Amino acid sequence: MAVVGFISEKGGVGKTTACYHVAVALHRYHNKSVLVIDADYQRGGITGRLFPELIEDFRRGTLPDVTLFSKFQHLYSASLFDPTVTIRTASVGVDAIVADTRLAHVTTDKLPSTNNIFSNNLSLLNHLKVIREVIDNLNNRYDYVLIDSHPEISDVLRSIIYASDYCVSPVKLDLQSSVGVPTVVSEIGTVNKDVALMKSTIDNTLTYRPTLFAGAMGMMAREYRGTPKQTEADEMRRLRSTGTVFSAYVTEGDGIRKAAQERLPVYDISGANADKQSLQFRQLTTEFLTKCP
Ligand SMILES: Nc1ncnc2c1ncn2[C@@H]1O[C@H](COP(=O)(O)OP(=O)(O)OP(=O)(O)O)[C@@H](O)[C@H]1O
Ligand SMILES: [Mg+2]
Repeated sequence: MAVVGFISEKGGVGKTTACYHVAVALHRYHNKSVLVIDADYQRGGITGRLFPELIEDFRRGTLPDVTLFSKFQHLYSASLFDPTVTIRTASVGVDAIVADTRLAHVTTDKLPSTNNIFSNNLSLLNHLKVIREVIDNLNNRYDYVLIDSHPEISDVLRSIIYASDYCVSPVKLDLQSSVGVPTVVSEIGTVNKDVALMKSTIDNTLTYRPTLFAGAMGMMAREYRGTPKQTEADEMRRLRSTGTVFSAYVTEGDGIRKAAQERLPVYDISGANADKQSLQFRQLTTEFLTKCP
């Protein structure tokens, strides 16, 4: 099993689109069992894509599911932690834990505090571990667990990073968006360092493999005569100098827009542009398998 977080500091860069299409391709073209965790509490984009019938309930906050939120709440109310959640199966063949708007209220500020440094740090560690505990409780039922996120450096994001073996960062290839990549890479480093500290001071039985940054993914690239436009190629090069970048990228185009409207993967949309974007997502997924084995 590999757990992969789709994270970025910038909104609207294609995280949800990438997470959804990689999830479907892993299942459909590589025969992998896939669980998607929708941790985007604001949009719930993957939830809406996989289960259109749930969108209204998501917005009203009336979904009956046991979601990640109630797992964090166990810690706030100092009740017994139970890692079980509701898992739904979507028609495209992937399973999902749906989004919950209440995840916006997750913060370590809500943890019961004492004047004891050891127990305060222990509860911070438990907060970091919540999503991983939920995943570990699934006993390797999935080949891949993909986590979609809200674009914000938050305690939920830190818990996503802790839970992930790898993180990828979808990016629109413009200067404004790609400056967000070093920020998430640095947050991954901070979480890894915090865990090393916790391990040496609080719980030396903790098994934790530092989260790896597997690369930025170029989304919505614009091309000129079949290759990325100069400005986009420059951004790719700049990103490469700060970390890894996937060589496969997805171009901007209406195949994906049409697919989003119809709530289908672009693989199921007809037309020249959709065919091109389908192929690009399939190539991206093949590279994903090597970068996040
Ligand atoms: N290659 C593409 N071509 C055209 N439109 C695209 C492409 N990729 C994504 N989009 C569209 O861009 C918008 C933003 O994409 P998406 O929702 O995946 O971004 P996001 O990073 O998840 O945003 P947020 O931070 O708000 O969750 C969506 O409307 C999506 O359909
Ligand atoms: Mg999104």
